[in-house]
Amino acid sequence: MKISIMGTGYVGLSTGVGFAKKGNSVLCFDIVREIVDKINRREPTFYEPMIEDALKEVVSKGLLKATAYLNYAVLNSDITFVCVPTPSQKDGSLDVSYIEKASVSLGKALKGKDYHVVAVKSTVLPETTGNVVLPTLEKHSGKKCGRDFGLCMNPEFLREGSALTDFLKPHRVIIGEFDKKSGDILERLYKDFDCPVLRTDIKTAEMIKYVSNAFLATKISFSNEIGNVCKRMGVDVYEVMRGVGLDRRISPDFLDAGIGFGGSCFPKDVDAIISKAKTLGESPIIMESVIELNRNQPLRMIDLLKKRINIKDKRVCILGLAFKPGTDDVREAPSAVIVDRLLKEGAAVNAYDPKAMEKFRDRYPQITYFNSAREALKNADACLILTEWDEFRNLSENDFNLMNKKVVIEGRKILDREKVQGFEGICW
Ligand code: UGA
Repeated sequence: MKISIMGTGYVGLSTGVGFAKKGNSVLCFDIVREIVDKINRREPTFYEPMIEDALKEVVSKGLLKATAYLNYAVLNSDITFVCVPTPSQKDGSLDVSYIEKASVSLGKALKGKDYHVVAVKSTVLPETTGNVVLPTLEKHSGKKCGRDFGLCMNPEFLREGSALTDFLKPHRVIIGEFDKKSGDILERLYKDFDCPVLRTDIKTAEMIKYVSNAFLATKISFSNEIGNVCKRMGVDVYEVMRGVGLDRRISPDFLDAGIGFGGSCFPKDVDAIISKAKTLGESPIIMESVIELNRNQPLRMIDLLKKRINIKDKRVCILGLAFKPGTDDVREAPSAVIVDRLLKEGAAVNAYDPKAMEKFRDRYPQITYFNSAREALKNADACLILTEWDEFRNLSENDFNLMNKKVVIEGRKILDREKVQGFEGICW
């Protein structure tokens, strides 16, 4: 099929590359000329394993092209996926201005087009597609939804660090449809994906996306709470959760305790659904507790550290800045909460991350960055491990012996007890 993608950020480009890998012809539209040129030069605009090679492959085969002209993209495709950002506002509610602007431009582009399907992939709160996208498209195209153009909401479930694999091997595809014709066309696009396809109305699909993220975030905060209790009893929460996760009704995923969840999705999405629930007169006590626990969890690293050393004027080595491995993304990363506190309490910070130092440096130019874990460990009085990058698995006693004083605390379970002695974990 011929597809166009509006917005070539993380979701847009991963989706475009994924559909092109499946043999579809993809046109990626972005208003930023620089981004368009970069994509056409086969260079991704963010770090994501596998995307770089896949982008090279699909651009070389002529299956994916970027353009700065929306009309061209729409006229030369059957479906447009809307993948623009949906940031949160200060009160946690969703900022729909990008999606509104995108709908205005898309509406205008639809004027000159026969029947065309619009599929919203951006994460939008229930009722946004129906109350914002639909009327804006109709107003600016002068056309009628369901008759002259189709409309779907097709949420994404891609994880940073494994976006392409998640795209090509999804657990499920959710198609929220305005009418049967729109849903049929979108389902055709997913026909050779080996997973269940669930067709719903648009509001339900929007809600499925939020509830999925809120539930996964709840599993993590629950594990962290249990981990905090385990720590006091000298029990390893990972052993506990291995036993718990073997129950198929629970599943072993998203039970890894640690310093809490970060990234551009869980914190924002849980806040947005809390805010929506409140506007509807509900008190979302579980989700509020999930956020509160997550807010405090990184600071437990500081509490543990203070039990071992007086941190004022000490040098603390931070290994791992990204909110998770496999990405250079530091948005809402627990590392920022920890570094803020260390600096506030008068510590100096050495930092190393294999991918995220450039982005972290923009916000924290005052800390010292090193090119390897070993260099960052030299002369440190303590070490906090905050991201479970594979390369940290290989750290050994010799590496930690470079420190002034060997105080090592893991916020993510990564070190090998056979190779390193005497470290402690946040919840184990
Ligand atoms: C998350 C969802 O997993 C995706 O399905 C969804 O598409 C995406 O949000 C989105 O809404 O776009 P992502 O934020 O990229 O994906 O990363 P995750 O792997 O879910 O991790 C989120 C955070 O939870 C990370 O900070 C990670 O370290 C933490 N986490 C994850 C834990 O603390 N424990 C776990 O067991 C799993």
